[in-house]
Amino acid sequence: MPSPLPSRPWQLPERLVTPEALVFGRRAVLTGLSALGGAALVPRTGTGAVPRVPIWTVDDRKLTDEKLATTYNNFYEFGSHKQIAKAAEALKTRPWTIRIEGLVEREQTFDIDDLLAKVALEERIYRHRCVEAWSMVVPWSGFPLAELVARARPLGSAKYLVMQTFLDARTAPGQRAFWYPWPYTEALTIAEATHELAFLVTGVYGKPLPNSMGAPIRLAVPWKYGFKSIKSIVAFRFVENRPKTFWEEIADHEYGFWANVNPDVPHPRWSQRMEQLLGESEKIPTKIFNGYGEWVAHLYPDLRDPVYFR
Ligand code: MTE
Repeated sequence: MPSPLPSRPWQLPERLVTPEALVFGRRAVLTGLSALGGAALVPRTGTGAVPRVPIWTVDDRKLTDEKLATTYNNFYEFGSHKQIAKAAEALKTRPWTIRIEGLVEREQTFDIDDLLAKVALEERIYRHRCVEAWSMVVPWSGFPLAELVARARPLGSAKYLVMQTFLDARTAPGQRAFWYPWPYTEALTIAEATHELAFLVTGVYGKPLPNSMGAPIRLAVPWKYGFKSIKSIVAFRFVENRPKTFWEEIADHEYGFWANVNPDVPHPRWSQRMEQLLGESEKIPTKIFNGYGEWVAHLYPDLRDPVYFR
């Protein structure tokens, strides 16, 4: 079947791998065609309407089961194990204020709903590869991080974007562990932050993002190990010098700044050659840049330098 968007393989809705997304996506197209003259929109609770025909998709792996993806999580604020979903429900995600600060024309603080009223949400099916060697394939919804960067109007001197998670040890018992450098922070270069793949996520599986996955807003940078994809963000800070991030402060030789997925560069304590897709019995080979090399390798001038892969 010919694709309406033939230039990019990930844009073929026919190649969607999940029956649920396929059915939901086609239904959205059909109702959209009749009711909206071609705009494939379906209403969504909470944060507006999201077209459920993904802009990016994954054609070689099945979508991860929703229950698994939303209940097997890393969110150290709520515990250093995977079953944090129940505890994370304690986080109040409305009202939610976001700060834009540092090297910008004007520092701003705004309510997340004011931001969401201004951006067009879209769906993207991405691979997600945790540094611990498990992975999943998830239908995120949200909007490009580049759009937030544009709205922030950074100064020319800004070279990095630092993102910060909420800090509230009364709600998040993990933050009482004083040996961790709370709040969780992550950072990207401005070139990475404005790459079209860098995505701010507000929903998943066609629903508002559950707290376990980083509600109300988290990052997805699918070519990097999952720890770069910071959850429950409250601040975006533009800076000139490369910051030390949460995991770098804890163990920089294990969780470096770049953290691009590469099966050839082992973690100091385990191989990165294979990964366990959640819900599957067999392990599968890990791909360089998690399969997104064609679109991101140019960001890293010397690919022989292992620093980009730590
Ligand atoms: N963000 C915060 N604030 N706290 C965390 O502990 N864990 C990271 C990342 N973002 C983490 C975080 C890690 S290690 C991974 S693999 C992903 O979130 C996990 O995302 P998921 O639980 O939605 O699969």
